Amino acid sequence: MARRMYVVGNWKMHGLSVDLAEIEAIAAQARAYPAVDTALCVPAILIERAARTVPNFTIGAQDVHFAEKGAHTGCVSAAMIEDAGAHLTIVGHSERREGQRETDEEVRSKAEAALTAGLSVILCVGERLEVREAGAAVPTVSAQLEASLPRGEGVARGVPNKFAIAYEPIWAIGTGKVASTQDIAEMHSAIRERLRASYGDAAEKVRILYGGSVNAENAAEIFAVEDVDGALVGGASLSADKFIPIVRAAFDASR
Ligand code: PGA
Repeated sequence: MARRMYVVGNWKMHGLSVDLAEIEAIAAQARAYPAVDTALCVPAILIERAARTVPNFTIGAQDVHFAEKGAHTGCVSAAMIEDAGAHLTIVGHSERREGQRETDEEVRSKAEAALTAGLSVILCVGERLEVREAGAAVPTVSAQLEASLPRGEGVARGVPNKFAIAYEPIWAIGTGKVASTQDIAEMHSAIRERLRASYGDAAEKVRILYGGSVNAENAAEIFAVEDVDGALVGGASLSADKFIPIVRAAFDASR
């Protein structure tokens, strides 16, 4: 099944007004690769300005609260994200699972809230180094995915068209270390299996991205792996110079 390649930048806690020019440069240069869906997930407070700066480019959030509204000081709802001009949100990034102690259950509620509100979702999963070293990466990530997968009526509309998974081994994020192509292939195939078990035929359309130290040098090799439909990119998404070669590699891989 042919799935469009998807390359998404995760700016994490980077980005001020002055960086809107870089977002503009990324959006402009990405236009040369129309076969690739490209997006940038920026800090919540930058979404509106970014969306106004590049109205024809997909801007996303990095997190969303699971409630529609209410007494949740400091949090941002799916409707707010959409209202600000974003069409996408990441949920369950390991920096939130670890740093903010987000549980699988919370991640699942966030994904459900976002899909129900009409946002696209990238749900992240990934194992710690000790799990990988103990040979338990595949069952651990499969269990994490199973417990985090959105379900329910509002979700059925969003899966598969607005739903993607990002496999990001925690030990590969921001470290310069990348999983071997063999390990990526094994994990992505296990993820596809889990998706089939939950969503049946719709699972074939769900894109599975790899994330963790993806850059211009290693992107082509990663994109050549079976069942890799793109990348979630942190550090190398902060400038057009580093990000666009990854988009180009995805474009080349999709031909
Ligand atoms: P990295 O981050 O590309 O800087 O490793 C990826 C991510 O955390 O999404």
